[in-house]
Amino acid sequence: HNQTSTNDSERSGTTGLQTAQKSLRHTSLHLLALVTGKGRYGEVWRGQWQGESVAVKIFSSRDEKSWFRETEIYNTVLLRHENILGFIASDMTSRNSSTQLWLITHFHEMGSLYDYLQLSMLDASACLRMALSIASGLAHLHVEIFGTQGKPAIAHRDLKSKNILVKKNGQCCIADLGLAVMHFQDTNELDVGNNPKVGTKRYMAPEVLDDSIQTDCFESYKRVDIWAFGLVLWEIARRTISNGIVEDYKPPFHDVVSSDPSFEDMKKVICIDQQRPNILNRWFSDPVSTSSYTFTNQVNQVIIFEEHYLTRSSGEQCIPSSKVKM
Ligand SMILES: Nc1ncnc2c1ncn2[C@@H]1O[C@H](COP(=O)(O)OP(=O)(O)OP(=O)(O)O)[C@@H](O)[C@H]1O
Ligand SMILES: [Mg+2]
Repeated sequence: HNQTSTNDSERSGTTGLQTAQKSLRHTSLHLLALVTGKGRYGEVWRGQWQGESVAVKIFSSRDEKSWFRETEIYNTVLLRHENILGFIASDMTSRNSSTQLWLITHFHEMGSLYDYLQLSMLDASACLRMALSIASGLAHLHVEIFGTQGKPAIAHRDLKSKNILVKKNGQCCIADLGLAVMHFQDTNELDVGNNPKVGTKRYMAPEVLDDSIQTDCFESYKRVDIWAFGLVLWEIARRTISNGIVEDYKPPFHDVVSSDPSFEDMKKVICIDQQRPNILNRWFSDPVSTSSYTFTNQVNQVIIFEEHYLTRSSGEQCIPSSKVKM
């Protein structure tokens, strides 16, 4: 597997016909090193393509729907944003009668935010830089832009620290659009795809766990993302030094569920026991957070975000889409 090129004779063809994909057929793509052990849904390699370092995600056949969805979204929507993982090409090849599904994107050597937080502590400004960059990426996904350079509104549905990559400049970008849903305001069409996969249980919002979520309404999916974003902020904040104190990395709800919680475990903790992540005392008394304008301003923005989420889920009505495409 060390030197695989995509222009071998066994290939069956490419999906979509973007320039990058066409040239991919004629230029060797070399896989250099496996980035991680085999994950639940496939593996990620660092590769070299046209002198550039690229990430090659090889999907397992049981997760082919995620590859199709991610490919569909990147191919139909112009998604260029510094806080969204940059797409290069999507490729389907046939080898020894099995199908290989590849997604080729920009490579970020610092790995996922989850990986990064295990080893690194942050100061207040690094924390803000990351938090704000994720918020910007999420805002860009969520908003519909009209016109020729436009895009539909997109909700991610599997936001978590493992699906966020850290860039060298200290900002982050959002990856893994295999579960995303799209909304088109002019026709009020909601495209939820047909991926049977659900989001990561640990990050599921209460309304997903108790099944009260209004699945025909796009707003619902945005709220689910905001819940997960709140948990990611909590993960980041624990690794941010204040008053000379910092916590070890822990995933959300580490103190109330096991390492691989079931749906029922999460439902009990979040919906029945109404557990929420601890807000640490040091976050209230930190001199930086109380004196610095930028920090207070950012914290306020996060609180506004949070209130937005809460008021919308309790009060405001959710208007169902007229057409729901499955
Ligand atoms: N573009 C990339 N650049 C660098 N490393 C990456 C890139 N994409 C993924 N990785 C690394 O590969 C790992 C595996 O990614 P993958 O999306 O397969 O699984 P995951 O998100 O970690 O976990 P899960 O199976 O729960 O979704 C990531 O955690 C990250 O460390
Ligand atoms: Mg991932």
